[in-house]
Amino acid sequence: MKIAVIENSRSRQEELGQFLTAPPVADFMASMFGPLPRTVRLLDAGAGAGSLTSAFVSRCCEKRDGVRAIETTLYELDGEILDALAETMRECVHRCADAGIRFTFTIHSADFIREMSARIAGDLFGTHPPVFDVAIANPPYRKISTDSAERRALRSVGVETSNLYTGFIALIQRLLVPGGQLVGITPRSFCNGPYFRPFREDFLSQLELRRLHVFDSRQAAFRDDSVLQENIIFHAVKGRNQPDELIISSSSGEHGGDVTEATFPFAEIVHPRDPEKFIHIPSTASHATAKEALSELRHSLASLGVTVSTGRVVDFRLKDALRKEPERGTVPLLYPCHFNGGTVHWPKLEARKPNAILDNDETRPWLVPSGVYLLTKRFTSKEERRRLVACLFDPDEVKAEWVGFENHLNYFHASGHGLERTLAVGLYAFLNSTVVDQYFRRFSGHTQVNATDLRTLAYPDRETLQAMGRDMKSLDLSQDEIDQLVTKHLNAR
Ligand SMILES: C[S@@+](CC[C@H](N)C(=O)[O-])C[C@H]1O[C@@H](n2cnc3c(N)ncnc32)[C@H](O)[C@@H]1O
Repeated sequence: MKIAVIENSRSRQEELGQFLTAPPVADFMASMFGPLPRTVRLLDAGAGAGSLTSAFVSRCCEKRDGVRAIETTLYELDGEILDALAETMRECVHRCADAGIRFTFTIHSADFIREMSARIAGDLFGTHPPVFDVAIANPPYRKISTDSAERRALRSVGVETSNLYTGFIALIQRLLVPGGQLVGITPRSFCNGPYFRPFREDFLSQLELRRLHVFDSRQAAFRDDSVLQENIIFHAVKGRNQPDELIISSSSGEHGGDVTEATFPFAEIVHPRDPEKFIHIPSTASHATAKEALSELRHSLASLGVTVSTGRVVDFRLKDALRKEPERGTVPLLYPCHFNGGTVHWPKLEARKPNAILDNDETRPWLVPSGVYLLTKRFTSKEERRRLVACLFDPDEVKAEWVGFENHLNYFHASGHGLERTLAVGLYAFLNSTVVDQYFRRFSGHTQVNATDLRTLAYPDRETLQAMGRDMKSLDLSQDEIDQLVTKHLNAR
């Protein structure tokens, strides 16, 4: 493609939110689409000189995966760039013709926000809003004040948002057919900005996120080196069921630069119970190296002198010995409801489960001598962020000579006794890390975490686990902090 030289003044560029996508980034965006229909109705809103449509055309011509026709609709407000846009489109016609694809286009020299809002709201009598199978977008970004024309237009279709780019995406989303795909490059601010909460809700309720891509350098994505926004590329599909997992990738943004990618549970990116609906984007680079390090682990739990067993107290078999509250002659009984972050919260009198069990001849065989134990939940719900949830039983916190671990827990021990503390804390970090959780999900598939699964997992050697344990200054670290610590020690082996 010829690169059109557009000499707009800086202030005019800012007014239009005009920052053109560099060709390698446009190509990369085009490569993110999934399978396409034979006839693609394509939308390029805020088309500039047409580099995104051009990249999409290249993808279809090269891939030859069944696309026979591309019907393109382009919106561009800047009269001065229209000649370049028309020229790019004529090139697309020729390239497509050579590949046996029919390419047609309509350029609307109009305000996308005002025109589409009116059409969606039904204000323009007799004109239904158009529908699209595919949209590719680098929308303009500029704040829009509460009483601006753009804001009023968006409000008329129920979109309340403070930036042009989120307005564009909200409208584009409404024009997609079910299963229609959108690849967009936008500032990253919508992922966690408090003002973008209504936008996030709208976006996540109508679009299924399939992939997010971030750049290591802030300036990488654009030709214009004064753009200091952090950008993100997303691939989303019109629909209401978020996937179980999505791909997070990152690259330098330079041509031919490496792309690192990793798969994350959706619940880790948008936490199911987060009312703000923040979109968390973990770092993929450290993740990829940790995953590699994990694949090299050779130690079995047995070689560490550690055993994992299912909690021995089956409550309905020992019904008569259970007590709601601790009393004389009882010892603590631990259920998953006693997990409280990284440690145990006991007793939990408001819980429905008993907190204690009688310590007598009948129950003693099912109890363990007090000590440092690592506990994991056997059952997690599908919505839970993690499949592996480990917490530390600390005898300094729960004073007793014997304890009962209920059957919904697994406990790590040393021949029926407690573990050495740094080893237990190291295991705590390892099992609570994202890489291990992911690795585990891959081989287990179901939501149960049985003792056998934990027994077959490969572990770091004892020294590495102890070093992790020593490095954990508190059990109350964030997921990111645990991940960094575990990655550091796995890579240092
Ligand atoms: C960030 S640039 C991206 C251009 C092109 N898609 C690319 O990726 O190189 C956004 C474009 O949207 C245009 N634009 C701004 N406001 C618009 C509006 N309300 N309706 C249509 N186009 C608009 C700008 O003139 C600019 O060319």
